[in-house]
Amino acid sequence: MTEYDLLNLNYRSLDEAREDMSRLLGERAKNESLPQALYNDPFLFRVDMDEVFMKQWLFAGMTCEVPKAGSYMTVEIGQNPVLIVRDRDGEVRAFHNVCRHRGSRICKASKGKTANLTCPYHQWTYDLKGSLIYTGSAMGENFDMSQHGLKPVHCRTAGGFIYICLAEGEPPEIDEYLQALETYMEPYDMENAKVAVESILEEKANWKLVIENNRECYHCSGSHPELLRTLLEWDDTTDPRATPEFKAQYERQAQEWDNECIPHEHIEFGLRNRIVRMPLKDGTEVMTMDGKAGCKKLMGRIENRQLGSMRILHLPNSWNHMQSDHVIVFQVLPVSAQKTLVITKWLVHKDAVEGEDYDPERLRHVWDATNRQDRELAEQNQRGINSAGYVPGPYSESYEFGVINFLDWYSETVLREFGVPPASVPRQAHG
Ligand code: FES
Ligand SMILES: [Fe+2]
Repeated sequence: MTEYDLLNLNYRSLDEAREDMSRLLGERAKNESLPQALYNDPFLFRVDMDEVFMKQWLFAGMTCEVPKAGSYMTVEIGQNPVLIVRDRDGEVRAFHNVCRHRGSRICKASKGKTANLTCPYHQWTYDLKGSLIYTGSAMGENFDMSQHGLKPVHCRTAGGFIYICLAEGEPPEIDEYLQALETYMEPYDMENAKVAVESILEEKANWKLVIENNRECYHCSGSHPELLRTLLEWDDTTDPRATPEFKAQYERQAQEWDNECIPHEHIEFGLRNRIVRMPLKDGTEVMTMDGKAGCKKLMGRIENRQLGSMRILHLPNSWNHMQSDHVIVFQVLPVSAQKTLVITKWLVHKDAVEGEDYDPERLRHVWDATNRQDRELAEQNQRGINSAGYVPGPYSESYEFGVINFLDWYSETVLREFGVPPASVPRQAHG
């Protein structure tokens, strides 16, 4: 818990917190920021973890991060260490990273490669499909190894993305989105990509403030000079702010993309997922400081440097920018009511050579700066919200529809878990 969490502790039970959450979400004013407690109360944070992060599909990493049999990576979902490993059949699997002997975490490293998964405590050993294969002689002859395999975590992959779901039972439906993702990501051949740069930022802000900040560009002109060298703020051609020049540019580029079989149509799945390819500023190619190439080698089968950025949203924890010569993926991991990790990875073609084809500093510059600026915005947002002076304020329907959509998704998702049917929330036209 953070120092702020301790200040806010008032010794309620989790049941009371769930009742509070249900009431606050049921009563919240549509199109306004949330009541204070939903941004800073440690009990309500716990409910967020239980009802959202323990039940929904989460972006966990990229398949190229576990390229070979035995390659693994680890991720922490709240207090739950999860292990993602590629087995000898090439399948990517996820398990609770928890030994079935006395519960030790098995893999400590964030990434690695191993023949089998051996617990460091008493060396119980599991194969890459999670079956227990060795305990030494300590457990006696009658010990049933088959009953002590690693506990699996739901895991699906598509287009190079790995999603996990910690739900005990059936996970939410995700097939349609994954099929679309496969199609939209086909030109990128993400199995043959690699992480060129990675950053982990700790933000002293509730995870919802981090996502809210990402879902609007109202703040961009005041805070993101580097990003705005190449990014057009329009979220879509139907964005109420989109200019005729932008629409004409889109039509022109869309024609090229169609000719090259580069998917770009706006597609969405409820409020959880959306994919849309948007041009960058006319004459620029990718999100670097001068808008020129970030990597000499293009991704996958791509030949056109001007692919703009394909933006992929996956609630509750990821947004992404897919460009012609590199892609940037973002992962949000809540730590406590007022602490959130934002992990950013820049990926390039696996054969691109550092120093020859790309300069990691050049590649990361714009989004490093943008991430730091966004961290400052989210942290100051949190500081103000913690004040006795905070009251929920109105979102702009033309500039902040993405935030409204996110909070509608969040609210409906939690209330559904509480058995409240989805309200007739008026959908925004965009986002
Ligand atoms: S806790 Fe893993 S082998 Fe004992
Ligand atoms: Fe921002």
